[in-house]
Amino acid sequence: MQNLDAYAKEVRTRINDFMAQYLSSLDNDAVKLKEAMNYGLLLGGKRARPLLVYATGEALGQKREVLDYVAAAVECIHAYSLIHDDMPEMDNDVLRRGQQTVHVKFGQTMALLAGDALQTLAFEFVSDKRSSLSDSAISRLTAILAKCSGYAGMCGGQALDLLAEGQQISYEELRLLHSKKTGALIRAAVMMGAQSVDGVDDKVLEALDSYATSTGLAFQVWDDILDVIGDAKVMGKTQGADESLDKSTYPALMGLEEAKIFAKDCAQNAIDFLKNVPFDTSILTEFALFTVDRDH
Ligand code: IPE
Ligand code: IPE
Ligand code: MG
Ligand code: MG
Ligand code: MG
Repeated sequence: MQNLDAYAKEVRTRINDFMAQYLSSLDNDAVKLKEAMNYGLLLGGKRARPLLVYATGEALGQKREVLDYVAAAVECIHAYSLIHDDMPEMDNDVLRRGQQTVHVKFGQTMALLAGDALQTLAFEFVSDKRSSLSDSAISRLTAILAKCSGYAGMCGGQALDLLAEGQQISYEELRLLHSKKTGALIRAAVMMGAQSVDGVDDKVLEALDSYATSTGLAFQVWDDILDVIGDAKVMGKTQGADESLDKSTYPALMGLEEAKIFAKDCAQNAIDFLKNVPFDTSILTEFALFTVDRDH
C-alpha cells in the first residue's frame, strides 16, 4: 500500500475530476444555482470522506470505478452541510476553503438551494446504475447515507450544536453532539465503502464501525482545537469562530491540552479496532493519526 499522502493526492484528483464531470453534464436551466453548487463542492477541501470511502472499499476488494459514485455521494452531503453551516442562521461565517462562503458570493437564496440540490445529488450518485453496485448494495448505502445525514446524524447534531451555544453542557452531551454533527458522516463514509461489497463479515463491519466512530470523534475534537490554535490562512476558515459564538467545544469544556490528549486517545482507540480487520488497513490507520496531527 502507498502512504497516506500519495494515496490522498491520488484519490483527491480522482474524485474532483469525477464530480466536476458529473456537474458539467447537468443542463444550464438554472445556471446561477449550478455555479453555486460548483463553487461549494469543487473549490478546495481535503476530500477526507471520499478518501475513507476509497480506502475502506479498496481494502475489501471493491473497484475504484464503483467507489467513485459512493465517494461523490458522501462528499455532496458534506459540501451541503458546510454551505448551510456557514449561513447567517447557523455559524455566520464568511470564509471557507480560503474563499468567500457560498452565501456571501451567491446570496442566501442560492446558498440554501445549492445545499438542498447537493443533498439530493448525493442520492442521485448512490442510485446511479452506472456505478455497477448491486441492487442490495444500493439499498444498504441509501439507508446508511439517509440515516447518517438526517435527524439521527448530521442534521440532528447541527441542531444540538446550535442549541448548545452559550450553554454549559455535560461531557456526555458534547460527545453525542460531536458524534452526530461530524461523526455520523465519517461513519457513513467508512460503512458505505465497506457495504459497497456484498457479504462482508459482520465482525469486520462491527470493527470498521467502531473505527469510524472513534475517528469521527477525533476529527471533530481536532477541528475544535484548530479553531483555537490554527492559522486561518492554512485552514482556509476563520480562526476563533467557536469562541466568538460561545460554542460548546472540547477545548472549552476540558481545556486545550486535555482536549489534545482526548483527541489522540480517540485516534488510538480507532486504530486498535482495526486489529480485528483481516485486510490491509494501513491507510485507515494513517488517516486516524492524521486527524489529530493536522494543521487544516
Ligand atoms: C469541516 O470538515 C467541518 C467538519 C465537519 C469538522 P473538513 O475539515 O473535512 O473540511 P474540508 O472538506 O476539508 O473543507
Ligand atoms: C460543522 O462543524 C459540522 C458540520 C456538520 C458542517 P463546525 O461548524 O465546527 O465546522 P467548521 O469549523 O465551520 O468547518
Ligand atoms: Mg457549525
Ligand atoms: Mg462552522
Ligand atoms: Mg469547527
